[in-house]
Amino acid sequence: MIIKDLGTVTGKMLVMGGIYSNLQALNAFLAQPDAHDVAADHIICTGDIVAYCADARACAEHVRDLGIVTIAGNCERQIAAGADDCGCGFENAPTCSLLSRGWYAHALDQTTVGLRHWMADLPDWITFIHRDKRYVVVHGGASDISKFVWPTVNDADIRAELALINQEIGRVDCVLASHTGIVMDRTVDGVRWYNSGALGMPAHAGKQTTSYAVIDDDIETHDLVYDAQAAHDAMVAVGLVQGYHDSLLSGYWPSEESLPPELHR
Ligand SMILES: [Fe+2]
Repeated sequence: MIIKDLGTVTGKMLVMGGIYSNLQALNAFLAQPDAHDVAADHIICTGDIVAYCADARACAEHVRDLGIVTIAGNCERQIAAGADDCGCGFENAPTCSLLSRGWYAHALDQTTVGLRHWMADLPDWITFIHRDKRYVVVHGGASDISKFVWPTVNDADIRAELALINQEIGRVDCVLASHTGIVMDRTVDGVRWYNSGALGMPAHAGKQTTSYAVIDDDIETHDLVYDAQAAHDAMVAVGLVQGYHDSLLSGYWPSEESLPPELHR
């Protein structure tokens, strides 16, 4: 496992979850006022730079070339390995598996050899200290890069993940995780488990806006308004019309079965 330590970071930081190959969302995020006075090395991506949308290559090149700090998501790990599926852990969700054959193949096809090498070298976890609090950034969970820590999970499951983190790197005050694409903010035994949601796909809640987080005195979730129609049209133009293109506009996923029942519409 690759763990990268950033040391002590001062000043405002931004956190984005899965970009999911959504170049329109990434560009809008980088252009909005919250990002104006934040250097790229204060922007954290929690993995899955590439996934459902049209522009895997451009998104990965942006993150790499701007020097945004990122861990690998399951998508980066699978693409770096040349695997034939996204490794997301939705084996029991046939619609999701079926849909992934479309977008994953597209993302794999767009990713250059250089990007695959870059993805292979990305850390699994990142640690840093900010305002005297120790953070760790993981993708899904500590037990598995594709662990789904949904907002509905019970405290015992989070406690088990925290125990693994503690075993590996010692106590932290906050875990920044992603993979589910849904905002979550829970504190268990004094440790905060926070998920900013995805930047590149709205949560399964009927809204087009996506989300990111600002870390300053506290962690705040912010909505991102961007040109979802353009992102949708870019997907259509490259033949990604299996369902997630409509999700950008409707705010509902085509793979509801992959969600816990409490999160169904
Ligand atoms: Fe993921």
